[in-house]
Amino acid sequence: MATKQTWALITGASSGIGKAVAFEFAGKGYNLFLTSWDEQPLQQVAADCHQQFNVETQAYVADLSRPESVDGLIRALFAPPIEIEFLVNNAGFGVGGEFLKTDLAQELNLLNVQLAAMLKLTKAVLPQMRARKKGRILNVASVYSFAPAPFQAVYSGCKAFLLTFSESLREELKGTGVTVTVLCPGTVRTEFRARAGIAHRNDAAGASPEAVAKIAVRQTLRGKHLVVPGFANRVFVFVTRRLPVSVVPGVVRFINSTRGVNK
Ligand SMILES: NC(=O)c1ccc[n+]([C@@H]2O[C@H](COP(=O)([O-])OP(=O)(O)OC[C@H]3O[C@@H](n4cnc5c(N)ncnc54)[C@H](OP(=O)(O)O)[C@@H]3O)[C@@H](O)[C@H]2O)c1
Repeated sequence: MATKQTWALITGASSGIGKAVAFEFAGKGYNLFLTSWDEQPLQQVAADCHQQFNVETQAYVADLSRPESVDGLIRALFAPPIEIEFLVNNAGFGVGGEFLKTDLAQELNLLNVQLAAMLKLTKAVLPQMRARKKGRILNVASVYSFAPAPFQAVYSGCKAFLLTFSESLREELKGTGVTVTVLCPGTVRTEFRARAGIAHRNDAAGASPEAVAKIAVRQTLRGKHLVVPGFANRVFVFVTRRLPVSVVPGVVRFINSTRGVNK
């Protein structure tokens, strides 16, 4: 139940899934602390959510690949402190291509945004959630959390970490009133693929960010541990979990080649 004091902190809220998640939480009456590094669209999301749903919003611009920016964001959360009931670690991007040729600096940034910043934010807000015996953490991973993806090696490795970390933390927090949910979408129609340099035969393929956000927020509120939106994605996860580990990367490579993805 939303109160005037409760906030949702959402990273990567300026576009795609994060933006849609912001509207979902605002529609349920939660105040929003939104962050990403592109100021104008971020401010626009904050203003639109405030106007449509009459919730309080704060927009904080931070490049989460930079440790000092993450520290600045955490200081802003506590000055003055706000009651964060929801933490959504969503900000992220992919790097597509042959590992021999991809840019290492970009890949290290990818890990900083999706792992280092996620860990720091989780450590920062968890103590108050534990003390209040109330909190929900939503980590945005991917179906690739279950399946190594050739030509997206760093990205899929990162998402596997996110899944394992989230499930471990969830178990540690059992009975505390704090839950961890992992969202593992397949293809979603956002800027993601274009930004990652990942080709796709059908640009219109995939779920809408709004549909993914709706189910993700509903299941996070219920404290569900894993959310895989879409029947085909659930089949993919079911099958890859049962195949011998050694064959999964080849299967993913084949599926992606039929979709015109990669190389
Ligand atoms: N789209 C898919 O097919 C798909 C599938 C599975 C999982 N996912 C995951 O879903 C999450 C959201 O992606 P999306 O599809 O919504 O893509 P998106 O539209 O590109 O949104 C990514 C968000 O992350 C933010 N971000 C990226 N780098 C950042 C940085 N250095 N510092 C701060 N914010 C940063 C972006 O901010 P700016 O706009 O300000 O740059 C943007 O708000 C990601 O974790 C992605 O891995 C996506």
